[in-house]
Amino acid sequence: MDKVLTGKSPSLKGTIRVPGDKSISHRAIMLGAIAEGTTRVQNFLMGEDCLSTIDCFRKLGVSIDITEDSVTVLGRGFLGLKEPSEILYTGNSGTTTRLILGVLAAAPFHTILTGDSSIAKRPMKRVTGPLRQMGADIDGREDGNLTPLSIRGGHTKGIEYHSPVASAQVKSAILLAGLHSNGTTIVTEPARSRDHTERMLKAFGGDVTVNELAVSVEGGQTLTATSIEVPGDISSAAFFLVAGAIVQDSEIRLEKVGLNETRTGIIDVLKSMGASLSISNIREVNFEPVGDLTISTSQLVATEVGGENISRLIDEIPIIALLATQANGVTVIKDAEELKVKETNRIDTVVSELKKLGANIKATEDGMIITGPTSLKGDVEVSSFGDHRIGMMLSIASCICNGQIVIKDADAISVSYPSFFAHLEQLQTVKSV
Ligand code: S3P
Repeated sequence: MDKVLTGKSPSLKGTIRVPGDKSISHRAIMLGAIAEGTTRVQNFLMGEDCLSTIDCFRKLGVSIDITEDSVTVLGRGFLGLKEPSEILYTGNSGTTTRLILGVLAAAPFHTILTGDSSIAKRPMKRVTGPLRQMGADIDGREDGNLTPLSIRGGHTKGIEYHSPVASAQVKSAILLAGLHSNGTTIVTEPARSRDHTERMLKAFGGDVTVNELAVSVEGGQTLTATSIEVPGDISSAAFFLVAGAIVQDSEIRLEKVGLNETRTGIIDVLKSMGASLSISNIREVNFEPVGDLTISTSQLVATEVGGENISRLIDEIPIIALLATQANGVTVIKDAEELKVKETNRIDTVVSELKKLGANIKATEDGMIITGPTSLKGDVEVSSFGDHRIGMMLSIASCICNGQIVIKDADAISVSYPSFFAHLEQLQTVKSV
């Protein structure tokens, strides 16, 4: 589906609640499915990626009910999972594909899983390699690197694994396998990745030890069902934080946003660029910090983004690139090679689409360099290339473009933010007083 956006917004004003956090929604279903008892998940993200996780666990024999405001998972413990008679389809979701492999590694049956054409290109060896070391029998194209994958699990043993990448998907897959393996499983990362699995395991009564960059679990644990309230997704809020900073005459309040420090790199970047941003009402829900964010139109200066902060904002780099087009000076984004293995190669897609809008941006081996400020053109056709975050970044860009823009494949946005355009229109229609 193509989306036609009319260009420059006179202002963006109002309060919104972004949908539930994608990473936390996936984990609530997965842990609920292997726990004993009934888990109720509120503010679950009804985006396509998380619905893929529900669909896969239903095929593994777990009963999951969806109502308008919550999801109920009837867990019968890890041993309650059943060999699926159908192929599991993980859609566009890297988190579903990689984390479910961790669950299946320890499950004593055979499963085949596959995803869409983007998933078919994404590297799975980073997960299938360590899961094989634990004893899972996995095969697939390129020696188990690419989907479709076949996995026969069971009889796994704990390992000590030093991950070459800071990836929560890798860490979580190994920990999920470790929960039902013999002995201790330890994962060490080069930098800290998002720690939602560790926090949620505690909410389900699990035992997990975090020692700086090392996380460990003992095998043979039983998880107990609980209630989870999913905070708003800071990665979705990021689009409206940037919109509030770069669109003239704007003030946007975002309520109940997750503020886990492994995810708040975007807030640090906005602050270092001089954005007028305030945080209030901070509290903790299910071991996750949550708060309200208010941002208004700001004078921005360039910054440098790299090093250990990359994993704290990896999904926000497309929208940070747009932000940098409006900042005074040269913004350098480095150490972000991981962008190449996301839903699209996000170094290529961000640079090519922002260039079409007239941005001064160039790709580097591990990131991009953006010189600002530049005024962005209209009457241009751009594409999401099927990548939800590229689609949302371009839609926010349209609010400062000098004319209409057409976004091809804009429906990809429903992967993580089905109400995105409704929220954008709501902010555009609130008039200044
Ligand atoms: C995610 C981890 C990150 C992130 C992705 C969601 C998760 O990927 O980019 O959108 O829920 O664990 P990596 O683990 O590959 O860094």
